[in-house]
Amino acid sequence: MSWSEADMLAILLIISVSVLLVDSVQIRMRCGNFTIRSIRQMCLTNSCLDDDLEVQEFCHNLYESIFKCPFKMLPINFLCDGINHCNNGMDENPTICKYKQCKSYEYKCSNGQCIEPWRLCNGIPDCLDGLDESVLTCRQLLSKNNARCPVIIKEGHSTTCYLNYGAKMTLLSCNQTLPPATVMDMKCKPFYIDSNNTNHKTIICQGNGTWNLSPLDCKTDCGAPEKLKIEPLILHGFEIKPHFWPWYSVLYTEDGDKWVFFCSSTLISTRVVLTAAHCVWEIPKHKIRVGAGKYSSDFYAIEKESQFRTVTEIFTHPLYQDILGNYGSDLSLLIVNRAFRLSNTVLPICINWSLRNILNNWNDNMKGMVAGMGIMENGSLSPFLRASVLQIISNERCIAEQAFEFRKFVSITSFCAGTKDGTTLCNGDSGSGLAVFDKHSGKWFLEGVVSVSLKDPNTYACNSSHYSIFTNVGMYVDWIYPIYLKYNMDYN
Ligand SMILES: *[C@@H]1O[C@H](CO)[C@@H](O)[C@H](O)[C@H]1NC(C)=O
Ligand SMILES: *[C@@H]1O[C@H](CO)[C@@H](O)[C@H](O)[C@H]1NC(C)=O
Ligand SMILES: *[C@@H]1O[C@H](CO)[C@@H](O)[C@H](O)[C@H]1NC(C)=O
Ligand SMILES: *[C@@H]1O[C@H](CO)[C@@H](O)[C@H](O)[C@H]1NC(C)=O
Ligand SMILES: *[C@@H]1O[C@H](CO)[C@@H](O)[C@H](O)[C@H]1NC(C)=O
Ligand SMILES: *[C@@H]1O[C@H](CO)[C@@H](O)[C@H](O)[C@H]1NC(C)=O
Ligand SMILES: *[C@@H]1O[C@H](CO)[C@@H](O)[C@H](O)[C@H]1NC(C)=O
Repeated sequence: MSWSEADMLAILLIISVSVLLVDSVQIRMRCGNFTIRSIRQMCLTNSCLDDDLEVQEFCHNLYESIFKCPFKMLPINFLCDGINHCNNGMDENPTICKYKQCKSYEYKCSNGQCIEPWRLCNGIPDCLDGLDESVLTCRQLLSKNNARCPVIIKEGHSTTCYLNYGAKMTLLSCNQTLPPATVMDMKCKPFYIDSNNTNHKTIICQGNGTWNLSPLDCKTDCGAPEKLKIEPLILHGFEIKPHFWPWYSVLYTEDGDKWVFFCSSTLISTRVVLTAAHCVWEIPKHKIRVGAGKYSSDFYAIEKESQFRTVTEIFTHPLYQDILGNYGSDLSLLIVNRAFRLSNTVLPICINWSLRNILNNWNDNMKGMVAGMGIMENGSLSPFLRASVLQIISNERCIAEQAFEFRKFVSITSFCAGTKDGTTLCNGDSGSGLAVFDKHSGKWFLEGVVSVSLKDPNTYACNSSHYSIFTNVGMYVDWIYPIYLKYNMDYN
């Protein structure tokens, strides 16, 4: 005799089902002062149970690991869990279920069902009788329990905290430790975003003084201006609108009794600005002002979106040696006295924090955008913010195509960009950032900081047949990151 395939299958099924059933959790019962191993044991020993018809029927349908409802089988761990699995309520028989033993920290409903402490007073009835939300239960919970949940709100959070039980909802301030059962409704403020893109979460303070879920992680939404549409093939510098390049910030210095524009910079967080070291290395910090949300290079122009800050600290790259070092490591970080308020016109750009050289995967289509208020083709300072799309050039090509005196500025920590047909960068654009759009994330990333451009010694006009040199930001993230982190409000 041989087994047919169907027989084999049936045997396998029986084996796997019985393994499953044997493994199922036994429900402990408490009868008087005694703990009883399982409901079945309780039926067999007749402890505590009256000899009524319903109890008899229940016990009759109870096997070692399954319970027979009228039309289906139920694993026994589904008994007395507060849900009518049998449809006729048989599996939730209160005469039996009231003896179910809860874990020490659990709350026992009158029907025997056990619920976790944080389900008490959370606005949702979990016991079949709803008593877990009664005013009495909640008052008791609050008075006897002195565990409180810690303050977790941060800069980017917008939160509402409340107790929600009985008939009324009590609002609480979220910036204090909070009692169990407090519901915290968390959102990210405008211009902040959760790393998971959820941007909304409701968490509850549990009975033991811990939150049931981790808080929303709202970080500054970098590199994503609201209404930015780019024509990919703009070749010449063009005037741009406010809102267009919200991480652009202007550096002003004191000249007599006036503040005058002298360099550009980029917001990399609400308190940290990245610029070229050659712009600031000889200027004391109290002689620098940073303007964000600026559209005009005039410090005194009335622009309702503009914000000014003073500089409390300057970090210049320790290897920067100005002309002696061929402008290598041409980077400085400025820390402003107070965080810039984020808005449509003031937003930081993103930096990819992995150490890397943008030229490693270089191709002919790599383009970046730079904005500035520097000298235009005709030699006069641009009164307004202008932007250019520049082609990123490989170092080999840059050296091959540029004038001899320019070549010494090309190194592994810099790269060239420009177009040979009319657009270039110039004085005053120094310190500005070259940003590359990442299609995948929909965000702009800072890749370069304007360092060196050759200019006509007489007119100071920039020669549009020359490329400009950018400090390669990806090669300096190890230096930038710790400073960025230290002054980033998102983490404080
Ligand atoms: C049994 O429990 C009762 C209260 O329910 C208590 O008074 C009694 O001392 C307990 N007996 C034992 C043996 O633990
Ligand atoms: C908490 O917030 C309130 C207003 O919402 C404010 O008055 C109070 O100073 C804050 N307390 C702390 C400790 O931040
Ligand atoms: C991200 O969201 C999904 C779905 O809302 C959630 O399951 C996951 O746990 C979340 N991850 C983090 C890190 O918050
Ligand atoms: C607090 O209670 C929850 C739910 O009962 C549990 O998951 C968590 O581990 C507990 N935390 C501590 C620190 O006891
Ligand atoms: C950051 O750079 C690494 C290395 O080049 C790359 O794998 C990753 O995708 C980049 N991340 C973003 C968000 O662009
Ligand atoms: C240079 O060009 C700009 C705009 O194209 C113009 O406003 C400005 O007057 C010009 N300056 C000179 C000196 O021609
Ligand atoms: C720009 O540079 C090219 C090549 O170095 C040179 O031939 C040309 O005369 C320069 N133009 C100006 C206006 O300086």
